[in-house]
Amino acid sequence: MKHSLLIVAMLAGSLFVSSCGKNDAEEAPAPTLYDRLGKTEGIAKIVDGLIANVGTETQMTNSVMLRSHKPMLDAVNSGADPTRLQRLRNNFIDQVGEATGGPLKYKGLSMLTAHKGMAVTHTEFTVWRAQLEKSLNTNKVSETDKAALYAIIDKMHDDVVGH
Ligand code: HEM
Repeated sequence: MKHSLLIVAMLAGSLFVSSCGKNDAEEAPAPTLYDRLGKTEGIAKIVDGLIANVGTETQMTNSVMLRSHKPMLDAVNSGADPTRLQRLRNNFIDQVGEATGGPLKYKGLSMLTAHKGMAVTHTEFTVWRAQLEKSLNTNKVSETDKAALYAIIDKMHDDVVGH
């Protein structure tokens, strides 16, 4: 009897040591920005919100974004290239998913090539960024995570604007 009590005590002790020996907080990798944005699903919602906001902006009187987006919108609406917007959406999700530390891989054009010939102005960039901001707010992204995403986006400014 004494012997089996000793075995139980030893087993309990070893379980205690093994569970206390690990510090979960130290060992779990910190969530990446990709994780914090809600992984692919969360990023897709943000991108869909951005696209919807840009679409609304292009329908406004004195729209700033219509000029740059008209060729793509015409190609989609005329049926000449119906999946062009869908391709942009999927590429943008991959781009954000990769740049924020997720497992996605961007296979689209470089930012310089994608926007070449569009002559995007700084004002157009600012308005595009405001459409993204609206979507980030709708999707309840924190100020910290918004700042982390803008650090990534704003680095691309010079490749997007003025070419
Ligand atoms: C840092 C900011 C931006 C990022 C990260 C970005 C990202 C992208 C990506 C990933 C594509 C698709 C490339 C491909 O399919 O291979 C694209 C295309 C496009 N971008 Fe941007 N973009 C930015 C800013 C802007 C701005 C400011 C405008 C205009 C105001 C704009 C207008 C367009 C248009 C119209 C296309 C579609 C081109 C086409 O299919 O004909 N983008 N962008």
